[in-house]
Amino acid sequence: MKFPTTRMRRLRKNFQIRRILQETRLNPEDLIYPLYIKEELDEGQKEHIDTMPGQYRYSLSEAVDEAKRLEKLGLSSVILFGIPIKKDETGSSAYEEDGIIQKAIHRLKEETQLVVITDVCLCQYTTHGHCGIVEGGEIVNDETLNYLSRIALSHAEAGADIVAPSDMMDGRVETIRKALDKNGFQDTLIMSYAAKYASSFYAPFRDAVCSAPSFGDRKTHQMSPANINEAIREVELDIMEGADMILIKPALPYLDVIKDVKNKFKLPTAAYQVSGEYSMLMAGIQAGYLTDESIHESLISIKRAGADLVISHFAPKILEEGTEFKC
Ligand code: PBG
Ligand code: ZN
Repeated sequence: MKFPTTRMRRLRKNFQIRRILQETRLNPEDLIYPLYIKEELDEGQKEHIDTMPGQYRYSLSEAVDEAKRLEKLGLSSVILFGIPIKKDETGSSAYEEDGIIQKAIHRLKEETQLVVITDVCLCQYTTHGHCGIVEGGEIVNDETLNYLSRIALSHAEAGADIVAPSDMMDGRVETIRKALDKNGFQDTLIMSYAAKYASSFYAPFRDAVCSAPSFGDRKTHQMSPANINEAIREVELDIMEGADMILIKPALPYLDVIKDVKNKFKLPTAAYQVSGEYSMLMAGIQAGYLTDESIHESLISIKRAGADLVISHFAPKILEEGTEFKC
């Protein structure tokens, strides 16, 4: 049946019709908020991140207060990033018992009901800013695995619900799973940044957490933006190694990857709307070229592609204003 019997515009006749026919929805529990916690800041302090308008580096107490405020607005989960005072060659402040993230996990688990997810990587904690151990100017894979599993274990010991390795070393999911299981943390989930691209959209984040590499780049471990077959293999391997959940990153430029991964593997799949995606939209809005509707459109599009969860700096704004899409 076609025109004139069929009229697609009947489906869009008015807001009420459009709303009941809306295929994709964003729910408050789909959102994960990234919290940046800076060890050096005193209680009560927060610092504006100039490359990410409206986002802050928080002291521990401020981070906990912000998390509590967002929980009241309906937030279900946070992902934590630390900015330590001390950096060294092996990122040792990433796995200290009283490291900034370990302290934050304790407090958040004591004072909120939030699901606490932690980013597991070395780059914020190493003097060279690389995601792994560096030997002779190279990031050495197998040596790095021991450090990553120590970090993940220290997060689990502090009470993290989900550890999320973002380093893109080969074999890290299996190494982390084994370390967790051996120490009685069979119930700690692993969300692997399975397909993480070597993206220019991370630039504001690296400024926010001071993790830019002092030499070279991340192209020997993060993926080329040109590849998708390789992303499927990355995801498949992480699942074989024991990943409970999959993360695709960035989100909006990689909707095809989100869709293929969700359709093929059917695992809980999260997408990371990264710092550059946030700052790009904010810049457009601040310049008056875009409106807040672009934020809602980007998030609903990420869900439509197949993401179950979205890590987004827009989480507070969306929770304050309501998750409903103005269709
Ligand atoms: C660290 C890490 C990065 C992001 C999350 N974890 C940056 C990178 O790989 O350099 C990016 C987050 C963002 O841009 O919002 N491995
Ligand atoms: Zn890293």
